[in-house]
Amino acid sequence: MIMSVHSLRIVKKLAEKLSVFLLLVAVVGMIVWWRRDDNTQAVLKNTNIPTDTQKTAQSTKPISSPGFNKKQYSVNDPASIWVVVNKGRILPADYVPANLVENMNLRSEPATALKSLINGAAKDGLKLILVSGYRSYTSQKSVYDSYVATQGQAAADTFSARPGHSEHQTGLAADVGASSGKCQLDKCFGDTPEGQWLAANAYSYGFIIRYPQDKTSLTGYDFEPWHIRYIGIDLANEVNKTGQTLEQFFGLPAYSNYPADYYQLKTGS
Ligand code: DAL
Ligand code: ZN
Repeated sequence: MIMSVHSLRIVKKLAEKLSVFLLLVAVVGMIVWWRRDDNTQAVLKNTNIPTDTQKTAQSTKPISSPGFNKKQYSVNDPASIWVVVNKGRILPADYVPANLVENMNLRSEPATALKSLINGAAKDGLKLILVSGYRSYTSQKSVYDSYVATQGQAAADTFSARPGHSEHQTGLAADVGASSGKCQLDKCFGDTPEGQWLAANAYSYGFIIRYPQDKTSLTGYDFEPWHIRYIGIDLANEVNKTGQTLEQFFGLPAYSNYPADYYQLKTGS
C-alpha cells in the first residue's frame, strides 16, 4: 500500500516525538540513577556502621598526639628522664643519679616538680608529703631482703623491686603520702582525698602513677597509688591521655615476673 505524503509526514512527526520522549526518559533515568548513588553515599555517611578506619579507632585506646616525638629522650639510659626500669630492665648496680637534691632525695627536676605538686595540692586544701625518694642499689637490697625474710620471695616480688630493678634508684620516683599519715604506703591511700587528688593531678606536674590498679599484670607490681614517677610534663600528658603504661606507650615488653635474661640499662645508651 502506498502511503500518502500526508501520512508520511504524520509518521515522521510521531517518530520525532518518540525519539524526544526516549531521550527525555534516558536523561531522567540517568538523573535518578545518579541521585540514587548520591543518597547511598549520604546514607552510608550517616549510619553508625563503622568503616574499617572507624573500627580501628573505636577498638584501640586514644593514640598519642600526632607529631609527639617518642625518641626525644632515651628509654635505655639510666640518666634519662624517660628511662624505663622494670622487672626485665636492670640498672647498673653502681648507678647513682648525678644531681640529687639532698633535702628532697630526688633529682633536681623532679624535686622542683614535686614542690609545685605539693603546693598545688595545698591550694586545694590537701597536705601531701614526700615519704621516700632516691634509694641506692644497696638500700633497695636491704628493703627487698627484709621483705623476703618476713613475707617470702613470691610475696615480696609483688610489691618490692629487687635491687637494680627499682625506679627509686633513678632519683625520679617518689612515694607520696598524706601529712596525716593515713593509709601511708597502703592501697587505701587511693581512696583518700589526697590519693584521689594525686591520681587526678600528678600528670600536670610531670608525674604518673606508675603502678595503676588496672595494670598490675603489665607492671608486675600491686597497685601503688602513692608511687609517682617523674617523666616530664609532655610525656606525662601523653601517658595520661592514652591510659597506657610506660611499656605500652614505648612498645616495650611488659614483665609480670622476672625473666631469665635482663635488659641491661647503660649510661649513654
Ligand atoms: N615498690 C616499688 C615497686 C619499688 O620497690 O621500687
Ligand atoms: Zn615507690
